[in-house]
Amino acid sequence: MKVAVVWSSPNVDGLTNRGAKQFMNGLVKAGAEVDEIHLNRTRMNHCMACGNGWGQCRETGECALKDDFADVYKRLTEADGIVFVSAVYWSDMTECMKAFLDRLRRCEATHNHYLAEKRCVLIACAGGTGRGTLECLGQMEKALVHMGMRAYDRISVIRYNSDYVLPALEQAGEVYVERLENGFDMRY
Ligand SMILES: Cc1cc2nc3c(=O)[nH]c(=O)nc-3n(C[C@H](O)[C@H](O)[C@H](O)COP(=O)(O)O)c2cc1C
Repeated sequence: MKVAVVWSSPNVDGLTNRGAKQFMNGLVKAGAEVDEIHLNRTRMNHCMACGNGWGQCRETGECALKDDFADVYKRLTEADGIVFVSAVYWSDMTECMKAFLDRLRRCEATHNHYLAEKRCVLIACAGGTGRGTLECLGQMEKALVHMGMRAYDRISVIRYNSDYVLPALEQAGEVYVERLENGFDMRY
């Protein structure tokens, strides 16, 4: 069982990293192999909406830009489960996560459909007022839905709940592996 954990924050010792780590601890405890992808450490350009706006990806399923996108995309296709963890910026996901999901959606929704039906976990980590976690989760889920992927859970981590939500993320990781192995009891 392989789970990719795609996380985004420039900080390697912040709330987002702590959230991702806790979830990964649970994944490992449950026996999963983890593929950690720290998006801010990759070369991830934003979509150029090439051609007439639909891009070559609609015809070929491949992005025209040459950077780390193709490698990260391939790793997601090889994973049984995918976890997206983003810091909350402007009540939204980080620019890096957005750039990645924009390009993934193009390739997936218009051509490839490799990731359709995957059950994912979404985690938003906000260190400010905590406002905007729901919008961030909602924006990430919108991209998933366009790709035919599904959010199995949506988790908010804020500084006021981190004392009890961060420990719970470990258990969430364990349960996610269990569900990946035994099936999801969800209809959507
Ligand atoms: C550009 C920017 C925008 C932010 N917007 C929000 C926000 O809308 N809501 C919030 O609670 N925190 C906001 N924050 C605070 C981040 O969520 C906070 O820095 C958080 O800890 C990020 O995770 P990190 O510790 O991994 O960096 C913002 C921070 C930055 C740099």
